[in-house]
Amino acid sequence: MAFKERVFSGVQPTGNLHLGNYLGAIVKFVALQENYDCIYCVVDMHAITVWQDPAELKKTTREVTAAFIACGIDPQKHIIFNQSQVAEHAELAWVCNCVARMGWLNRMTQFKEKAGKDRENVSVGLFVYPSLMAADILVYRATHVPVGEDQKQHLELSRDIAQKFNNDFAESIRSHGFGDAFFPLPEPLIQGPATRVMSLRDGSKKMSKSDASDQSRINLTDDADTIALKIRRAKTDPHPLPSEEKGLEGRPEAENLVGIYAALQGVSRADVLKQFGGGQFSTFKNALADLSVAKLGPIGAEMKRLTQDHAYIDKVLAHGSERAQAIAAETMKAVKDIVGFVRR
Ligand code: TRP
Repeated sequence: MAFKERVFSGVQPTGNLHLGNYLGAIVKFVALQENYDCIYCVVDMHAITVWQDPAELKKTTREVTAAFIACGIDPQKHIIFNQSQVAEHAELAWVCNCVARMGWLNRMTQFKEKAGKDRENVSVGLFVYPSLMAADILVYRATHVPVGEDQKQHLELSRDIAQKFNNDFAESIRSHGFGDAFFPLPEPLIQGPATRVMSLRDGSKKMSKSDASDQSRINLTDDADTIALKIRRAKTDPHPLPSEEKGLEGRPEAENLVGIYAALQGVSRADVLKQFGGGQFSTFKNALADLSVAKLGPIGAEMKRLTQDHAYIDKVLAHGSERAQAIAAETMKAVKDIVGFVRR
């Protein structure tokens, strides 16, 4: 059976959205609007798998929503909402919990990393986090999921859950008129290496909101002067820029800045090096600072304006939630029939 092509992705509501989030995820979300029906979700229920300050959670949920809109996601054509407003996510997550095996979840590397040595004391929610993520995707029967490399394993688990559900209930799926598979197996749309943005202070570390040094990242809400200063102060090495890509090997800081330029300008790294190769870093940094300010400045300004307008943001989320729920409710009705729950 052919499924309707649909994109779903989720972003955790965390403060300090930065250039890495923008180039790694949001730019991709924006581009996918052309060819797919898209659903973009602020996953506040995933956020509380570790304790969140309630006032801060509301603030960051609205901030991510503002970023989506400021970056160019159209909340009329596509769906932007926050997870907790559509109870079907939690409902389907329970079914996913009963389909997923302990062994599968035990293998999740992100859980192992996050739990560390403190396994006895992390929340149960953190352990079943990937199961809720599967529910997010499957409740819309989404076919394509743009994610970073770090979420690939979780997406594979979502496929395994979908597959096992389709197998375990094959008989019932058929008898209810859904053909041979109820859930499509969601395909990852993995970001390329060009969009992996590294710290401006250390080219071997990912740009991160939790880095102690604010100089290591460009926040989406940084003003023009701050952006330019951070680029000019970014760590580099003493050599001029190479003219070809293989000259970037072993030079993570140079590689990162060239990658950022290429991604912001929408050209290849080779093109960037054709233009700047052989030149001094200072010349290139000036060009990169100008480009960054031109691309990010307006986004930051729009984000600031939108985050102050709670009424508007909350209306977008309410409207998106209603539309999302209309789809999710249909899926849940079918799932209940398939599983054998008596329903109204
Ligand atoms: N786990 C994802 C992250 O941390 C966020 C997420 C939640 C997600 N549900 C999703 C991503 C569904 C894609 C699809 O980045």
